[in-house]
Amino acid sequence: MPVQPVEKVWMNGELVDWENATVHVLSHALHYGTGVFEGIRCYETSQGPAVFRLREHLERLERSGKIFMMEIPFSVDEMIAATHELIKVNKLKSCYVRPIAFRGYGEVGVNPEANPVDVTIAVWSWGAYLGEEALANGVRMTISSWRRHDPNIIPPAAKVTGAYINSVAAKQEAVHKGFDEAIMLNSQGFVAEATGENIFVVRDGEIFTPPLAAGSLGGITRNTVARIAADLGNPVTEMQIQRSDLYLADEIFCCGTAAEVTPVREIDGRVIGPPGPVTQEIQSKYFAIVRGEDEKYYDWLDFVSS
Ligand SMILES: Cc1ncc(COP(=O)(O)O)c(C=O)c1O
Repeated sequence: MPVQPVEKVWMNGELVDWENATVHVLSHALHYGTGVFEGIRCYETSQGPAVFRLREHLERLERSGKIFMMEIPFSVDEMIAATHELIKVNKLKSCYVRPIAFRGYGEVGVNPEANPVDVTIAVWSWGAYLGEEALANGVRMTISSWRRHDPNIIPPAAKVTGAYINSVAAKQEAVHKGFDEAIMLNSQGFVAEATGENIFVVRDGEIFTPPLAAGSLGGITRNTVARIAADLGNPVTEMQIQRSDLYLADEIFCCGTAAEVTPVREIDGRVIGPPGPVTQEIQSKYFAIVRGEDEKYYDWLDFVSS
């Protein structure tokens, strides 16, 4: 989906014009994948734009950095203020927010420690990641021939740019085979997650998701779904999921900030079916919450005051 340019990008504490938001070709992160990043959504609500769980995302950014000894030179509060300013200055009612902290220009070589940590935040209007049709009718997924990277190869707890080459390989393979998205198994053969989403399986009305130890990112949407499900009286159980559990599921859905809550209607030729009742209930609650239509969850909304 093409990026819609806006006026300004926040770079290391300053607002710069969109076309000037550039980095040097010798930036360390470009060569060695030394960037940590977040994907966040801001939704239009009756009280103006609201960023969903902004603080939690920025705290995860800090934690991702910590794993790679990358101290982010801006506090979470400073990055929250920057995000607000950016949404206001670009006059957006809803948008995607992409903060990234990365090792910049300095030395070339694997050790990044002499290189500065640059921080930028970009915002732009972004529709449904897997498409509106996917949200309504579900996606077709394949199990990737690429395995999820092992926690002792690259920790899934770090949302680090270099790790995404693993997701890129799986996504490309899926698209070339005619599917919308890929599910990745870990090195033991259990379901880890999709290329940018966590996975949930419903069987006999019960909801299951792989534990983080299976190699999935601790998704903020995963956590949101778990809370919604518990509040609806149907708490999620963490369980090792095998590929046959996918084939035999009554419902499957994936979730993430970009993909929101997207039903899965087929896995490698096994029909799961149109979005089922559990998926639909969680999806509609999710959209009500992010759009500020459910006061019970206002704590998760970070309203951008005008
Ligand atoms: C690999 C991967 N898994 C899961 C997710 C979902 O995480 P979240 O719900 O925090 O967006 C993402 C997106 O950030 C991701 O990249």
